[in-house]
Amino acid sequence: MSKNIIIAIDGPAGSGKSTAAKNLAQKLGFTYLDTGAMYRTITYLALRADVVDNCEEVIKIAQSVKLKLQTDNGKTRVFADGEELTEEIRTPEVNSKVSEVSVIPEVRVEMVKIQKALGESSNIVAEGRDVTTVVYPNADIKIFLTASIDERANRRFKEYQAKNENITIEEVKANLEKRDKIDSGREVSPLRKADDAFEFDNTGLTPLDDLDYLLEKIKEVLSSK
Ligand code: DC
Repeated sequence: MSKNIIIAIDGPAGSGKSTAAKNLAQKLGFTYLDTGAMYRTITYLALRADVVDNCEEVIKIAQSVKLKLQTDNGKTRVFADGEELTEEIRTPEVNSKVSEVSVIPEVRVEMVKIQKALGESSNIVAEGRDVTTVVYPNADIKIFLTASIDERANRRFKEYQAKNENITIEEVKANLEKRDKIDSGREVSPLRKADDAFEFDNTGLTPLDDLDYLLEKIKEVLSSK
């Protein structure tokens, strides 16, 4: 039986991982897996229950909730115990707490379990912070996507503007810098470039440029296997 193909993409917030992974998945007919959406959902549920600073309670949520992710028309829809939380998980409040929730080892164990199972059942393009290092150490292709902090802040700011969120570019940049620091500095599964990943800095490039480059690179890697 042939093994599923796993394309894993890690990188800091705003580096364009979601767009690149989604576009690749669509082009290749693979399942798209947004692992950040899972950590965001746990964070949102903890915020709503007013327990986000209580580690034990956050762990209980992660261990008991039934998460479902599905991609419709290029958009990841998230459900927790059947309740759709697609929009709720992308607010500044969730952004400002999600890195703290994702440092909790027991939360990571639960999320990684689900992610590994998905990788065993279909060809996937997965993106996150530890998919090239911890979740899929044997991924067929590993990509470390990055861009300058100003470019990343600008991208996120535009997304907020489109949603009429009341936030300044300075606040967006400060939040990204704080998240970068926590995501890369944490003890458990920190964001880092895997030794066998190739790094791609897409500062100044468009999502279509990313797609062209990555498809070419993937073809090259798969044909040399
Ligand atoms: O990719 P994103 O911005 O939606 O991710 C939100 C947060 O979730 C990110 O700041 C760190 C955390 N995360 C993680 O710890 N591990 C992952 N595989 C994906 C996301």
